[in-house]
Amino acid sequence: MQKIQNKRILSGIQPSGDLHIGNYFGAIRQHIEFQEGNECYYFVANLHAMTTIQDKRKLEEATLQVAIDYLALGLNPDKANLFVQSDIPEVTELAWILSTLTPLGLLERAHSYKDKVAKGLTPNHGLFAYPILMAADILIYDSEVVPVGKDQKQHLEMTRDMALKLNNVYGDTLVIPAEYIMPEVAVVPGLDGQKMSKSYGNTIEIFCDYKTLKQKVMSIVTDSTPLEEPKDPDKNNVFALYKLFASQEEKEDMRKKFLQGGYGYGHAKKELLEKIYTFFELARTRREEIIKDKTYVWEVLKRGAHQAREQAQQVMSRVRENCGLIRAY
Ligand code: ADP
Ligand code: TRP
Repeated sequence: MQKIQNKRILSGIQPSGDLHIGNYFGAIRQHIEFQEGNECYYFVANLHAMTTIQDKRKLEEATLQVAIDYLALGLNPDKANLFVQSDIPEVTELAWILSTLTPLGLLERAHSYKDKVAKGLTPNHGLFAYPILMAADILIYDSEVVPVGKDQKQHLEMTRDMALKLNNVYGDTLVIPAEYIMPEVAVVPGLDGQKMSKSYGNTIEIFCDYKTLKQKVMSIVTDSTPLEEPKDPDKNNVFALYKLFASQEEKEDMRKKFLQGGYGYGHAKKELLEKIYTFFELARTRREEIIKDKTYVWEVLKRGAHQAREQAQQVMSRVRENCGLIRAY
């Protein structure tokens, strides 16, 4: 992985369902690694989630859930700022200003918007303007590096366009962030072999209980090569998942067993099940502790928001000044 040090890093996480192991290996793990030696801002994107979740309870719970899960998985609030997007009202203010500079055509070309419309979703303006809010999220903290999955690449390009436009029109005001696309090696396959994703219903949740985990692992799709025959480890889904959790030795051991024959997918699934369950054991224990004391979570979010808001206010006052928004009050 490309080493990033001494940078201001920002990323947002949508609270849109239980986190799965694709999210972990594709994003969360890197977020947590970045906290060493960088200044990190991670927020739960609850304003973005409102384009799809329109239920008070669900939104509240999902927002807290992401924060709890990040803390359980190793986010250290002494090293990284964790906060909730809506605690920083400057974000929506900057989003308005950016929207006055953004051509409709740019938004109409957004893949994520077009995909949702193609799926039959009736778009609201929030969904259409989603890239503007995301740009504001990034630019309001003078973020230097924004680690995201490949699916968000276009949103980052749009962010850079918006920042350049504002700087062009009003003079140097915003920092142009560098993109950082999470490494491709981390694409985690789901139960059916497609990319693991909530929208495909093929996920393994990080914090599911043992029984559910067992059911899921046992339902991983494999071919029908008989038990005694050799199997290609590079064409099988169980091994692809096992590799994420196992040590070099364990990987080689399972590879050999597949190639030798006499080793069935059922055997491999049992090994995978144990690996996944123990891999997240510590995080599960920590999560149980955190859930018992929600005041800790509120404290962390409050502290994170305080730090983030200070930064956002500085950038926003620069923007106001340069754009000619006079302040009488
Ligand atoms: P989902 O596809 O389940 O809706 P999200 O789009 O909310 O997941 O993804 C959140 C983060 O997790 C993104 O940075 C994304 O790149 C990463 N991610 C999601 N699924 C995978 C996967 N199967 N492999 C690697 N990274 C993933
Ligand atoms: N759109 C991102 C996603 O769906 C979440 C997000 C919102 C984000 N604002 C952001 C990511 C700012 C990085 C930076 O995953």
